[in-house]
Amino acid sequence: MTPSDVKATLSFSDGSPSMDLPIYKGSIGPDVIDIRKLYGQTGKFTYDPGFLSTASCNSTITYIDGDKGELLYRGYPIEQLAQNCDFLETCHLLLYGDLPDEAQKKDFTARVSNHTMVNEQMQFFLRGFRRDAHPMAIMTGLVGALSAFYHDSTDINNPVHREIAAIRLIAKMPTLVSMAYKYTQGQPYMYPRNKLSYAANFMHLMFANPCEEYEQNDVLVRAMDRIFILHADHEQNASTSTVRLCGSSGTNPFAAIAAGVACLWGPAHGGANEAALNMLGDIQKMGGVEKIGEFIKQVKDKNSTVKLMGFGHRVYKNYDPRAKLMRETCHEVLGALGLQNDPLFKLAMALEKIALEDDYFVSRKLYPNVDFYSGIVQRAIGIPVPLFTAIFALARTVGWIAQLNEMIGDPEYKIGRPRQLYVGSVARDVKPITQR
Ligand code: CMC
Repeated sequence: MTPSDVKATLSFSDGSPSMDLPIYKGSIGPDVIDIRKLYGQTGKFTYDPGFLSTASCNSTITYIDGDKGELLYRGYPIEQLAQNCDFLETCHLLLYGDLPDEAQKKDFTARVSNHTMVNEQMQFFLRGFRRDAHPMAIMTGLVGALSAFYHDSTDINNPVHREIAAIRLIAKMPTLVSMAYKYTQGQPYMYPRNKLSYAANFMHLMFANPCEEYEQNDVLVRAMDRIFILHADHEQNASTSTVRLCGSSGTNPFAAIAAGVACLWGPAHGGANEAALNMLGDIQKMGGVEKIGEFIKQVKDKNSTVKLMGFGHRVYKNYDPRAKLMRETCHEVLGALGLQNDPLFKLAMALEKIALEDDYFVSRKLYPNVDFYSGIVQRAIGIPVPLFTAIFALARTVGWIAQLNEMIGDPEYKIGRPRQLYVGSVARDVKPITQR
């Protein structure tokens, strides 16, 4: 971290001594005020629910400028990565800091391919779930269970273990997601095909069955690959912070990633693409395009809890750059499948247009986010809605792992332990039950 010549001075209106706080400069983005000595010197904590102004770490992985609508992985703009690279190159970039050359790509692809199968015993573990279990419930269980199957990669302090765990997680996620899907369909699991690309293998795992090959469609495979690239990392969001906090206790990488999966499930985070599609389904049931006005009225009503799912973002107060790319992919996929006139897709496009022109959304800088379009693309590809978040988890795994490894390797790393402002009862005595 580069110290700035400028210092922040914290003064108090009650005459307590003021305090100078160091400031550090990032390579881009806001400077940070170092408050680590604040409690020791003043006996006070800072208060920042939701971490609106708090940098929880320093990182070299991902940079977002929410006002500009810019997203960089290791300095490379997401647009260039989405257009020129595939997902495994992006994984290499996130994990090791740079894009692979040809030999590195070959080696990395071979290492990932070597780990695509899961221990055969995993399927018996999976059988314990109800057939109608939500895929994210299954994924939380399966990813956590990896630590019970791969004992040689559970020591988070051992760099060799961390490396094998990273490769295993990236390699096995498509297998696990497809197993969760096939299980709910009552179909046999497919084994991975290591000759296929990462995205094509996932399509094979999902849509082939022992009686029929899946005929790969390049537009759909590329769309799936792009979904993976766009969701691969997003700096210190809720699930990544969960992985860091969970991993900070020294727990094994599989357990930490399972915590990330659990966090991602929420509708305000990774569950938004599922929630967006369900919302479109609800508007469709209400009467479709004609009812958009009525629906938007509910969204704007202060007394209602209805939100326009797939719109808004904590960091982007401009168009989400991933949404722009996903929108492009969305049109390519709908075109390739001849679905431009599908009523649900028409509804989505009409809703997008109305919301982008409506003052409520414009004044609050609420733009469609990546999940609005990725849900539509996935539905068109034939992925069932409840599986959307599991696919997000598959893609985000590399980001989680890269962030976890960065934290463990950081000399300033400590177990995460936020503080609180206690506003509950002061100490009191327990009365006998007859007197309460
Ligand atoms: N629909 C209607 N109003 C909204 C929405 C929305 N989707 N999002 C924010 N607002 C309003 C909010 O009610 C508030 O209005 P007011 O100022 O009148 O009280 C204003 O906009 C500011 O919202 P906020 O709640 O302070 O914004 P936030 O940064 O805390 O929330 C968010 C961000 C993503 C949780 C929220 O926009 C949301 O719930 N969106 C829908 C869910 C969604 O699509 N989530 C996916 C995020 S992208 C994927 C990912 O990175 O995980």
